[in-house]
Amino acid sequence: MRAGVVACKKLLNAERLLMEVIIKKDRDSASKLAATIIAGLINKNPAAVLGLATGSTPLGLYNELVRMHREAGLSFKHVKTFNLDEYIGLDPANPCSFFNEMHRNLLQKIDLAADASHIPNGRAEDIVASCEAYEAAIRRAGGIDLQVLGIGHDGHLAFNEPGSSLSSRTRIKTLSRVTIKANARFFGSEEQVPKHVMTMGLGTIMEAKQCLMLAFGAEKADAVAATVEGPVSASCPASLLQFHPRAIIILDEAAAGKLLRHDYYIDVYEGKPAWQRYEQA
Ligand code: PGA
Repeated sequence: MRAGVVACKKLLNAERLLMEVIIKKDRDSASKLAATIIAGLINKNPAAVLGLATGSTPLGLYNELVRMHREAGLSFKHVKTFNLDEYIGLDPANPCSFFNEMHRNLLQKIDLAADASHIPNGRAEDIVASCEAYEAAIRRAGGIDLQVLGIGHDGHLAFNEPGSSLSSRTRIKTLSRVTIKANARFFGSEEQVPKHVMTMGLGTIMEAKQCLMLAFGAEKADAVAATVEGPVSASCPASLLQFHPRAIIILDEAAAGKLLRHDYYIDVYEGKPAWQRYEQA
């Protein structure tokens, strides 16, 4: 019995977990679980390198990390962060820029060192050189330990729209009409959404040691089903996570609503022994 537990732990440590789907009853409990996983990583490795995402999905996660920092002593003093993407041409002072959003929602509320956060520079004069420099900075930091991800209505990961090369690196991309429509809610109108972005590539994301994708709401259910149970295809870039050695997908009930194996994912997570559950992290 004990030998079995040791063997299972070895398997976990060998990073052969593959995709794990966890369904929580709502956005709040899902966000808290995601925060627990990140806090567990930082407690184990205070100099962890985090990949961060923007948009509405990770807001509950960031609020919980801020709470843990203020109330439970979680420190980011030695942590480094790399954001997934940024709009091209937007002033960092613009509240819609990911630079602004990230500082407002997390970075300025924790004890991260001043030079420890990295966000693609969408106003660089030489975007190609800036993309290469971003990749080099990730490599210099030793790679990303855990990458936070949302998912687009069209299945995009970061701003890798459908059709993106599965081995792409940080580069400039054109937004799809679906994404422009979805993000118009932040800008006031579709016309004001920049058409171009700088984004980590799918190849960049796949090199993160661990991926943590969150999706909430019924409007994400189709993209989530294609990601988890569809064929791996550039038509749904997030489906590439099926090949990631350690991808955790945390969903609320609404986003999990179209999964064929919904009940099975719940049974698997609920049947885990305490030492395997992230709540213990
Ligand atoms: P959202 O965006 O969190 O605002 O839904 C996610 C994404 O576009 O990746």
